[in-house]
Amino acid sequence: MRFPLEVVAAVRAVWPADLPLFVRVSAVDASRDGTTIEDTVAFSRVLKALGVDAVHVSGGGVGAGWEHPIGYGYQVPFAAQVRAEADVPTVAVGLIVDAQQAEAVVAGGQADLVALAREAQDDPNFALHAARELTKGSYDAYPVQAGPRLASRDRMLDRLGPWTGPDPVLVEEPTA
Ligand SMILES: Cc1cc2nc3c(=O)[nH]c(=O)nc-3n(C[C@H](O)[C@H](O)[C@H](O)COP(=O)(O)O)c2cc1C
Repeated sequence: MRFPLEVVAAVRAVWPADLPLFVRVSAVDASRDGTTIEDTVAFSRVLKALGVDAVHVSGGGVGAGWEHPIGYGYQVPFAAQVRAEADVPTVAVGLIVDAQQAEAVVAGGQADLVALAREAQDDPNFALHAARELTKGSYDAYPVQAGPRLASRDRMLDRLGPWTGPDPVLVEEPTA
């Protein structure tokens, strides 16, 4: 643990106390022979004592392949165990692809935040789309430049119906 703990102490010493400091960990190695979740819990307890605000729990590292179960949210249990046993806020990752799924991780107390990697490469606006889904279509989470315009565009699209071809469709009389 010595090297990363020295780095954390050095960063914490210069990083403002009111700004968050997260540490990302490979909670387990790709191989079952390497770092264990118990190692990571022990490490996370020291991170917390050094003033780290959250541990961002991934997995991987040494070894070819991945010798752990794979499925939606496959690394969330590691975040939950670190949160429960090291009593530190956690960030969960690992095939989180759906707004309800992300919400359930936080609401269920498995982690304090979720993060996305591959899903965000596919949909960089995932967070905004998730906010819409979880608020019954509200654009309130969108930037002020976008939300009202998209809401009025939705009303227009409702009136136009699905796109059926390039011919213009008049939905209101010209005003002048
Ligand atoms: C090919 C591949 C290799 C990865 N290697 C590591 C690694 O060595 N250590 C680690 O902490 N996470 C590793 N990750 C996990 C990513 O850093 C990231 O946490 C994960 O992809 C997030 O989940 P998501 O992409 O399903 O949203 C790897 C992911 C992929 C796809």
